[in-house]
Amino acid sequence: MAFPEKFITELVERNDIVDVVSGYVRLGKKSGSNMFGLCPFHSEKTPSFSVSPDKQIYHCFGCGKGGGVINFIMEIEGLTFPEAVEFLARRVNMPMPEQENDAESRKRARMLALNKDAARFFYEQLSTPAGQPARDYMAKRRIGPATAKNFGLGFAPDSWESLRNAMKAKGYNDFEMADAGLVRRGKTSGFYDTFRNRLMFPVIDVRGNVIGFSGRILGDGEPKYMNSPETLVFNKSRNLFALNLAKKSKSGYIILSEGNIDVVSLHQAGFDSAVASLGTSLTAEQARLLSRYTKEVIIAYDNDGAGLKASQRAIGILEQLDVKVRVLRMSGAKDPDEFIKLKGPDAFRNLLEASENQVDYRLKAVTDKYDLTQDDQKVAFLREATDFVARLPGSLERQVYAMRVATMAGVAADAVTGEVERRRKRMIRSAQRTDEREQTRPGIQMQPPEKALRYDDPGSAAAEEGLIRLLYNEPALVKRPNLPPAEDFSAPALGRIYGVIRQKLERGDTVNTATLGAALSGEEMNLLVRVIQKPEVLNRSDQALQDYIRKIQEHKDARQPGTDLRELQKKLKETKGYRG
Ligand code: CTP
Ligand code: MN
Repeated sequence: MAFPEKFITELVERNDIVDVVSGYVRLGKKSGSNMFGLCPFHSEKTPSFSVSPDKQIYHCFGCGKGGGVINFIMEIEGLTFPEAVEFLARRVNMPMPEQENDAESRKRARMLALNKDAARFFYEQLSTPAGQPARDYMAKRRIGPATAKNFGLGFAPDSWESLRNAMKAKGYNDFEMADAGLVRRGKTSGFYDTFRNRLMFPVIDVRGNVIGFSGRILGDGEPKYMNSPETLVFNKSRNLFALNLAKKSKSGYIILSEGNIDVVSLHQAGFDSAVASLGTSLTAEQARLLSRYTKEVIIAYDNDGAGLKASQRAIGILEQLDVKVRVLRMSGAKDPDEFIKLKGPDAFRNLLEASENQVDYRLKAVTDKYDLTQDDQKVAFLREATDFVARLPGSLERQVYAMRVATMAGVAADAVTGEVERRRKRMIRSAQRTDEREQTRPGIQMQPPEKALRYDDPGSAAAEEGLIRLLYNEPALVKRPNLPPAEDFSAPALGRIYGVIRQKLERGDTVNTATLGAALSGEEMNLLVRVIQKPEVLNRSDQALQDYIRKIQEHKDARQPGTDLRELQKKLKETKGYRG
């Protein structure tokens, strides 16, 4: 880790986890020494997200996420470890330590500078003779010079190394350009430009950094878009095209569309809050990013099957974040760009105003499936529609929509309202039963929720968890001579966590979620927090330690081929159970 430990320790001390989390989650209801709230990382109706003021950690019993205050900020703000540290330092006005020799942050800064220079180069090409094809294409798509400037649009010439040569002249080398995804290494020799003969859209993050590029082909052809690969500074699923502009909009909502041309065209027509995702359907991270800047998203995807499906998915993701969603229904045009060109900005504004809220939209999707003049279809419609309405959270909302369903099917309103409430009660009861079952089934509870981390040998994993917990809580135990090597662990993730903790303790470093954060992956951190949350009898720790060590050894032997399994099983049964 690049930050001095003293700095991290002070940072964590000054950013009390309850304060920080309270900025995102309403914490209430103390239970024991923990506070509970609705988990910001997954959708839920009853709070399973807990914060421990004593241990300064958070943990969600529902989705398994957990960590210290730095992890929380990484997760919720979508930041890297150093970015989260900087975020928290700013929060409490702590000066950042000198980072002159932080190789990674120097590399990032250099890549951002390169990207900015490349964007400038592409922009300049627009006014050279070589830029004629791009100017023609922009004229055809009616993208004016002011819009080009606003977005920093540019042109990648139809040549193998015009960018490469220009950046070389500015002092960047091939490897730096390749890391940034701007050049590629040829099969036989040399490097060549990644983007050629394309209209270039710089992707600019909310802090104003050029983090990558999308290049659109001039006209028809495949692939329509080429995007920068994942780099040190570019992550497609965590950024949105034009959010740097849209976040400044006064409109109160953000318009989510599919293509970069749609976004540009929308801004040009005065809809300055349009964004697009970068070639993937909306991700949870993008949705979270959006929710930092707006409470309402209007989906304006293409008017085709794929667009419809993507809308449904985006609705599901956004509504988990308490973002109001409306869906635009265009007719007579394939996308917002075409719509504006055919019918003008005013018609689009009308469309925005008429756009349906997501409940209407979904209910309409249900209605469209049935022919309500047929009695049997009417019954099926009523069944599906009441089920849908019963899932709406607000009772007033359920009333309103139950009545609408009744009208559509031509039946008495009371019948539908009554059925909706009966269904809802049933749903709640069965959800409660599932919750209780899950909390009382130890075998299942024992397993981490991440599939990749499932334990093959739960008996051994329990002891491995115990050992980690003891070391974490009582660092002095690292001096015991018979600690097993990490390779003896049955669960690779637990082995890694154990290895990192041991190594730190042996070096005399402090072990806490902050100091471990840089060495463990997000998944491993979640697992660690889950492990140290479980109760442990600390006053007999030496005894417990020896029990765990023996268990791990026995299970390891049992996993060796050629051992008499039955014999071992018997031995295992005889050994006294441990807690944990
Ligand atoms: N896409 C992509 N990379 C981007 C932006 C979009 O791969 N940076 C993909 C989307 O996933 C979607 C399609 O391109 O499949 C969107 O294209 P479309 O809306 O057709 O793009 P436009 O730029 O609006 O082009 P057109 O004028 O042809 O509609
Ligand atoms: Mn389009």
